[in-house]
Amino acid sequence: MKFLGKPRSQRAAFLPLCLLFLKILHPGHSHLYSSRYAGDKVIRLIPGTEEEAYALKKIYQQLKVDLWQPSSISQVSEGTVTDVHIPHNGSQVLLAFLQETNIQYKILMEDLQKVLEKGSSLPTQRSRRSVSGYNYEVYHSLEEIQNWMHHLNKTHSGLIHMFSIGKSYEGRSLFVLKLGRRSRAYKRAVWIDCGIHAREWIGPAFCQWFVKEALLTYRSDPTMRKMLNHLYFYIMPVFNVDGYHFSWTNDRFWRKTRSRNSRFRCRGVDANRNWRVKWCDEGASMHPCDDTYCGPFPESEPEVKAVANFLRKHKKHIRAYLSFHAYAQMLLYPYSYKYATIPNFSCVESAAHKAVNALQSVYGVQYRYGPASSTLYVSSGNSMDWAYKNGIPYTFAFELRDTGHFGFLLPEMLIKPTCTETMLAVKNITMHLLKKCP
Ligand SMILES: *[C@@H]1O[C@H](CO)[C@@H](O)[C@H](O)[C@H]1NC(C)=O
Ligand SMILES: *[C@@H]1O[C@H](CO)[C@@H](O)[C@H](O)[C@H]1NC(C)=O
Ligand SMILES: *[C@@H]1O[C@H](CO)[C@@H](O)[C@H](O)[C@H]1NC(C)=O
Ligand SMILES: [Zn+2]
Repeated sequence: MKFLGKPRSQRAAFLPLCLLFLKILHPGHSHLYSSRYAGDKVIRLIPGTEEEAYALKKIYQQLKVDLWQPSSISQVSEGTVTDVHIPHNGSQVLLAFLQETNIQYKILMEDLQKVLEKGSSLPTQRSRRSVSGYNYEVYHSLEEIQNWMHHLNKTHSGLIHMFSIGKSYEGRSLFVLKLGRRSRAYKRAVWIDCGIHAREWIGPAFCQWFVKEALLTYRSDPTMRKMLNHLYFYIMPVFNVDGYHFSWTNDRFWRKTRSRNSRFRCRGVDANRNWRVKWCDEGASMHPCDDTYCGPFPESEPEVKAVANFLRKHKKHIRAYLSFHAYAQMLLYPYSYKYATIPNFSCVESAAHKAVNALQSVYGVQYRYGPASSTLYVSSGNSMDWAYKNGIPYTFAFELRDTGHFGFLLPEMLIKPTCTETMLAVKNITMHLLKKCP
């Protein structure tokens, strides 16, 4: 993939950045993240009874496991699958316990460090490809993504306008791309964000892919032309910029923001539990050390506040809110915080149904779809429910590939197929918006 319309003279400018990137990931030729995940395991468990679920919760707390699915210990219950990342020093204890109690389990990853290193391209491949053109089939660091945005803002000013909606906790700019043909007439809009959760790297990769496809096919594809002529897309490729950066430099499995707490040493808030919609109720934690910590108050996180302010200001013309997460292969709509049917159920449901079919038509990958509460789990204070409650009629959360084989470590080889099929779903939803729904 050639960098979109990038003049040769400017390509050289990307080389130093690329070297800088290598420095981050390969300090002194040591292993990624200083081999901190060597010997760690990822195990899938299914407690068969409430007693087993209770015992598992206790041992998870003791061993300080990193829960991959579901995201909070409170959601571990009888009959539900849980995927846990267990540090090497705790895995023997857990395995012994599992054999003793006869709880069903399966080891998904024997050595997390090895999986992590296998899934990323070799540094030499990266640099070679980066010089010849922008590579959308590797994961990009925050710096690379921001430079890419600046570059598109310069070279595609007809369709793209880049702006900042505020600053993160650590002072980074919160950039958004406004994509679409500029027109004097009133236009409706679609908001898309990726990377609310830092470790879900396929999200930002999809946001970049979406922009690339839009620019590349605007002239040749009638559907894309219609989308960009009739709508604006506000695209935020990395919502949780501090967390994303941290997941590159320190902890690959970091999920939250990076804000400090006044009373605890643990940092960060779950940016998808920090919204003012049944804030800090079921499926969210009040404890700052938990991965689903809701924060000291709603919109305490500057990233959440900035996006909420923007959506409040523009909600009159924003018709859809789409948020990209991983992993589960699901297309979710409200409500998350309760088991109830939304007022516009039939329009939203049929949009989801068609989108999932369109996605499956490419490689046969199956997505479940439905209200988040009954399809995934109950969670309060998230962005999708908030957007819906604030008058945006179509709000969805995608949980992209896979279903746990690689989990958060989806290999770069799978970026292209994942984004290709997801693109069809997003186009399908967008075209649905442009039609009248009873
Ligand atoms: C994007 O480009 C426009 C000029 O076309 C400029 O005014 C604006 O500041 C740029 N955005 C950013 C974030 O640099
Ligand atoms: C949306 O997907 C459905 C199949 O689920 C298909 O029939 C329809 O043509 C698609 N629409 C667009 C605009 O892609
Ligand atoms: C339901 O859909 C109609 C038509 O699209 C819209 O006018 C209305 O605001 C929607 N209601 C809700 C609660 O989203
Ligand atoms: Zn997520």
